[in-house]
Amino acid sequence: MIARPDLLTAAERFGTPLYVYDAAELDAALSRVRAAFGGARVYYAIKANPNLTLLGRLRAAGVGFECVSAGEIARAEQVGMTGDEVLINGPAKSAGEYAAGARLGATFVVDREEEVGLLPPGSRALVRVNPALSVSTHDHLATGAADSKFGVTPAQAPGVLEALRAAGHDARGLHVHIGSAIRDASDFSAAFARLAELHAQTGDLEVLDVGGGWGVDADLPGIAREARTAASAFGARLWVEPGRYLVARAGTLLTRVVGTKRTGRNFLLTDAGMTELLRPMLYGAEHPVTALWNGDEEGTWDVAGPACESGDLLARNVRLPSPTPGDLLAVGQAGAYGASMSSAYLTRPRPAEALWDGQDWTLIRRRETPQDVWAAEIVPTAARQS
Ligand SMILES: Cc1ncc(COP(=O)(O)O)c(C=O)c1O
Repeated sequence: MIARPDLLTAAERFGTPLYVYDAAELDAALSRVRAAFGGARVYYAIKANPNLTLLGRLRAAGVGFECVSAGEIARAEQVGMTGDEVLINGPAKSAGEYAAGARLGATFVVDREEEVGLLPPGSRALVRVNPALSVSTHDHLATGAADSKFGVTPAQAPGVLEALRAAGHDARGLHVHIGSAIRDASDFSAAFARLAELHAQTGDLEVLDVGGGWGVDADLPGIAREARTAASAFGARLWVEPGRYLVARAGTLLTRVVGTKRTGRNFLLTDAGMTELLRPMLYGAEHPVTALWNGDEEGTWDVAGPACESGDLLARNVRLPSPTPGDLLAVGQAGAYGASMSSAYLTRPRPAEALWDGQDWTLIRRRETPQDVWAAEIVPTAARQS
């Protein structure tokens, strides 16, 4: 955990809103994953946080990357990933994504039958199975439900494996990812039970990839136990694709108090909001909010951002000491899907990011400027001349 004086220093030095990451927490999360999942191969789902410095650190620790777009594949390449260290997922891959995967020698996760004919010749591939289950998470975070767009049905999966082999691809096994922010091992065991039924038709497999989806407070040992049992039933090597679990706790969003408003509810207005951290608005996500100032008199506050959107709230009903403009708030567990989902809506430049190594801060992404936001736009000639 980063001490309060060090957080205050970061805000002074780099300004706010600011994402800060604790390298020790990132390393600790990876150690917990490795302890729970034993010899499983770890592919970090870089959508959770694609900052190149963090990617470089994870790569140095021996982690592979799961990518879902040409941009993410380019990031993987940028930090030196190649071959089997790269896993390419996605329900509607583009020609450019197939070409980039072929150039790197990546493994593709096949999401529909048509892909057998679209893969580059001689591709390494897994087949994603949708177990058609409802799991205990937000609807938008469930990816293994019967009405979700991901994967093939359990009935289709053996045929797709066979078709891949017949087409000359290296069909190595099955993949399942049932959603995100899931805490209970029972959701995973239900999914793995659906896969186990396929063993009679598939025989042993080289790889069983059980995806990610583990919530910050998930029962990791329980989930790992279920995953290892499922992999050994197939005689397969276990692969995992954690995103959130690896980076969520490492990240904190620092934001300054702009002011207050009392209108029946107490609003604490901050310089960060939905453009920096979309999750509360998008999924009703709850993040711990801590005051980095002292004060006795506690009140209950709704923490709201500066955007002209009613949903622009970081948290509701937070107990905080009496605030003064300029005070600093820490929004915790924001390392996953925080910076990566930040936007330049309202031409708000995206925030800076800094890494704490236990001794000092390093700026790992500079704050954008308005000029960065419109850099790809065509400036009208008249404006250019004036
Ligand atoms: C296929 C796949 N694997 C892994 C992940 C990572 O999920 P999480 O960040 O919840 O671990 C995702 C997230 O959307 C995904 O779609």
